[in-house]
Order: sequence, then C-alpha cells, then structure tokens
Amino acid sequence: MRILGIETSCDDTGAAIYDSEQGLLVNRLASQIELHNQYGGVVPELAARDHIRKLLPLIENLFQDPEIQDRGVDAIAYTAGPGLAGALLVGASVASGLAYAWNVPALPIHHMEGHLLSPMLEETVPEFPFVALLVSGGHTQLVDVEAAGKYRIMGETRDDAAGEAFDKTAKLLGLGYPGGPQIAACAMQGREDRFVFPRPMTRQPGLEFSFSGLKTQVLTTTQKQPRLDTQTIADIALAFELAVVDTLTIKCMRALELSGRKRLIVSGGVGANQRLRDRLRKECEHSGTEVFYPRMEFCTDNGAMIAYAGHYRWQLEMKDDPKLKHHCGYDVRPRWSLEDLSK
Ligand code: KG4
Ligand code: ZN
Repeated sequence: MRILGIETSCDDTGAAIYDSEQGLLVNRLASQIELHNQYGGVVPELAARDHIRKLLPLIENLFQDPEIQDRGVDAIAYTAGPGLAGALLVGASVASGLAYAWNVPALPIHHMEGHLLSPMLEETVPEFPFVALLVSGGHTQLVDVEAAGKYRIMGETRDDAAGEAFDKTAKLLGLGYPGGPQIAACAMQGREDRFVFPRPMTRQPGLEFSFSGLKTQVLTTTQKQPRLDTQTIADIALAFELAVVDTLTIKCMRALELSGRKRLIVSGGVGANQRLRDRLRKECEHSGTEVFYPRMEFCTDNGAMIAYAGHYRWQLEMKDDPKLKHHCGYDVRPRWSLEDLSK
C-alpha cells in the first residue's frame, strides 16, 4: 500500500509518501520560520495562508519521480487535529479534493499519534508496550502505550507545553523563533554555576507538568541583572534548558517505574534537544531501559510521520470503515485527545 501524508497543523507544511513494502519514498518540508520570526511566534492566519501557497507545489514535487507518478497512491492521510483550525483546514481540503479526484480514501490522522509513531520510521523499531514522552510546542504528555492504538495519558502539562516554554523564554531573552533550537545553541556558551531554576512539580508525586512558572523565573532573573550581556543571556539559557531537561527526565523515569515498562520513546519538537536525548539515554542505560528517538528531522513536524500513521491506522481499523471509502466531506478537530483513539 502507498500513502501520501499531509501535515499542516501549525507552521510547517509537510508532504511525504510511505510505501508498506519499501518504506519512506520521499519527504518534503516547507518551513514558515522566517514568516513568523518577525512576530516572535506563530500567527495562525498567516500560517494558514502560507499552507495554501506551499502545499500543492510541495505535493507536485513528490510526484516528479516517474515511478511515483505512474504508480500513484492508494490513500491520502492528513492531519485532522489537534492544531490551528485554519491551518488544519488547508490540509484537510487539499487531501479531500485529491482523494475525490484520484478515487482513494482520505484518512484523518491525529497529529500526536503521528509524533508517537515517528520512531517506527527508523531501522530499529520499538515493540509494544512502551512509555512515550511527547514533547512539542503544543503538548507535553507521558503516554502509556500498552499495544497498537491503546493509549493512556499518565500525565500532561497543566499550562505551557515544554516547547512553548522554550519559545516564550527565547522571546524574553531576545533570541529568535522557534525558541528551542535558539536556546540550545545559546546555552552551549553558558556557565552552569551562575543561575539555577526550579524543577517544577518534581517534589510532589505524580506525572503532571507545569512550565509556565519557569518563564516568570527567567523574567525576574533578567530584570535583576544590571546588564543583560551575551554571557548573561547564555548563562540564563543554560539554566533554563537544564531545568526543563531535568524535569522531563525525572518524570520519564517515574513513569517507567510506575508502569513497569522497559521501553521509552521520545518524540515531538523538543525531542530534537540534544541535551535531553543525551540525558535520557544515560538514565535509561542505568535502569536497563531501551530508549528510541526518531532522527532530528522526524522530531519536528513532518509529512512522513503522517503518511506512516495513515498506513498504521488503515491496517488497524480504517480499512473496515465504509465511510472512508466514500468521499463524504471532512472534519478537523483543533482539540482532540489522544485517548479518544483508544475508544
Ligand atoms: O513538534 P513540533 O515541530 O510542533 C508542534 O507540534 O508543536 O514542535 C515545535 C516545538 C517548538 O516549540 C520548538 O521550540 C521546539 O519544538 N524545539 C526544540 C528544539 N527543536 C524544536 N526545543 C528544544 N530543543 C530543540 N533542539
Ligand atoms: Zn507537532
């Protein structure tokens, strides 16, 4: 089976083709970083308009290979949620239009399931069951994955997602957007002993997160400095990054202990953070846990994970859904819990 995957939930336009026999055939991405950088964050209306401009040329580009063009695809998977409503609607409309024209089903995919499954695009594939740490710009969740499609959220953030905290802190420090890579790069020059920020909610039991207080800590720390020079900014960036990495690590190890699972997968944009990857690898080695990451480009939003999730959902249940075979409109779900997929 061959599936076209379309991702437009936020500020990346992604398109890819996954083949059940041959794996990922082609993967393309158009980033909107420059567009949103001047505003210090994603502007939803601009994001949607840019998806309209970029999506069809990106898909056309996938079909440049004559073999891909001749063979065509058997289904189109698109991100139906969660995400920005206008941005989601662009992907959903294009997917439905093409599905109608090509007479193939259009499969609505949960963006976080795409992230969760992204390590499966790698050579060494994690087996079920496992714990998943999903850390992106919109979500921070620890999910117990008992079997294919069986999700139980063990804990999530009460306020800001980890990626959102990176983005807001970077803005406060005058670093660019998106904040994660900027803070990570800046923190390389930081000195560890100068500032220490708290590890929120790690002293109490449970697996909930809260990152909004950290950015307030950063704000008050910056206000107390007589001069916000480059070195001070790097020192603050490092203290912030260490606090987030430490917090995520403590909660991951706790989730593994509580669930008794011996496998951890980490995905979503913040999963690209090298300090987090190194730290978790070390802790997991220590506790005899296997840890799986997608490669960096599959941590952040991309079409490959949606194409893969489309294939996975098709095999799991969608092939038996008569509604999907008839083109009866489409749905987007800006708010949508991963647990709904287990029902
Ligand atoms: O998964 P993603 O591309 O989009 C959402 O679904 O939200 O995640 C984007 C988030 C942004 O907040 C960005 O700052 C963060 O991931 N991010 C990082 C890194 N690369 C991206 N955070 C920390 N370190 C990184 N290297
Ligand atoms: Zn994402």
